Amino acid sequence: MDLNTIERNDPDSASQSAAAASAPAKKVFVKTYGCQMNVYDSQRMTDALAADGYTATDVIADADLVLLNTCHIREKAAEKVYSELGRIRDMKAERAAVGREMLIGVAGCVAQAEGAEIIRRSPAVDLVIGPQTYHRLPDVLARVRGGEKIVETEYAIEDKFEHLPQPKRAEMIKRGVTAFLTVQEGCDKFCTFCVVPYTRGSEVSRPVAQIVAEAERLADAGVREVTLLGQNVNAWHGKGEDSMEWGLGRLLFRLAEIPGLARLRYTTSHPRDMNDELIAAHRDLPALMPYLHLPVQSGSDRILKAMNRRHTAKDYLALLERIRAARGDIALSGDFIVGFPGETDADFEATMDLVGQVNYASAFSFKYSPRPGTPGADMPDHVPEAVKDERLQRLQALLLKQQQDFGLGLVGSTIDTLIEKPGRQAGQKVGRSPWLQPVIVDEKAGEIGDIIRVRITKTGYNSLFAELA
Ligand code: 5AD
Ligand code: SF4
Repeated sequence: MDLNTIERNDPDSASQSAAAASAPAKKVFVKTYGCQMNVYDSQRMTDALAADGYTATDVIADADLVLLNTCHIREKAAEKVYSELGRIRDMKAERAAVGREMLIGVAGCVAQAEGAEIIRRSPAVDLVIGPQTYHRLPDVLARVRGGEKIVETEYAIEDKFEHLPQPKRAEMIKRGVTAFLTVQEGCDKFCTFCVVPYTRGSEVSRPVAQIVAEAERLADAGVREVTLLGQNVNAWHGKGEDSMEWGLGRLLFRLAEIPGLARLRYTTSHPRDMNDELIAAHRDLPALMPYLHLPVQSGSDRILKAMNRRHTAKDYLALLERIRAARGDIALSGDFIVGFPGETDADFEATMDLVGQVNYASAFSFKYSPRPGTPGADMPDHVPEAVKDERLQRLQALLLKQQQDFGLGLVGSTIDTLIEKPGRQAGQKVGRSPWLQPVIVDEKAGEIGDIIRVRITKTGYNSLFAELA
């Protein structure tokens, strides 16, 4: 059967554009690496390509265009991209043998950091496009089809969000009852381990009106929970509808007024930008979920200084105390790096000690990976891999224990759950707790999009099992 016929008969793709209606729909396969910001960007690129006549496919061999939206945060991320490009090159050759095209594009932070080097290392790649220029994707593709290879990594002066088309309502509905919304991009903090200030550029906040309009469209398409995204999301600021300068706290209050939006979250935050207004939002805004991802990276003041975090372990703990005083049931999550240059056993013990004091509900921990061009890479006293491995194992064991204890502590309690999707097993649905854990319930417990009261009966590896309360 001709797959393109099915595509054209699909009501969603039929309405997409004149180009799609007159020619067989082109297909794009997008693979996303890294953070939620990239997940959001991939959706917006897909939307921009839909306006250009592309429909999304999950089958890479069927794709006329393959886009890898890459992450550069740690070494393996970029290496995975290069090995994936090797596999895709073979598929491109197979398609070429039967007279079909497959364009290959690399987007995201590896694209920004490596630029033309990607095409030198993987000549099958046709385009390299950095995170600030996605709105130019249709233009870039037109030039690629004209036979050019394109590297587009200049920081654009125009606002990409203003130029990126919004998805169709039908597409939004398909994407489910939770959504990401990028409100801020880039970073001016220059932690000495991190590439983000170089790959994503300096801190930029999207304007209030743009954010509110996007949140309203999401709510109109049935979204119940929105997670505001930014590399430094709590540094977001902008001129409000009352002409006053708003911070993230004020913005959250405004978004909570939108009918249908029941839950709000934000990630990722820097401890130095947790201001009183935002802490007050945790106290006074029931829609703001009691979960905070607040990376500290290390518990040693010496290492924190070398990392240019510009706060001490004590500052961090004092801040958590204020946040917990505002919202007693708040769950904390964090990021940690072990084996930063110069980290001694005593420094690492300070991290273990801090983790012991905080009690995290979840956390991410990594071995330090020198990123070319960052100050950390040039620091003396790099820590041997074996030492990093050992420290990471110890830290992760402690964090896992805390995460499991947090789940166990919920057994027997009654909580709200937003039902998100069908379960992997027949007869089940999966919801989300206020603290981001998947909650498995009987499928008859409610409809997708409902927020139901459930009693937690037991814990799974990373999830909770519950029955209607
Ligand atoms: N090496 C290891 N981990 C890193 N992270 C950022 N840069 C590096 C690096 N060079 C981690 C930090 C950050 C998270 C997103 O990734 O913990 O918070
Ligand atoms: Fe990776 Fe950071 Fe870029 Fe996200 S912003 S894709 S985590 S490097």
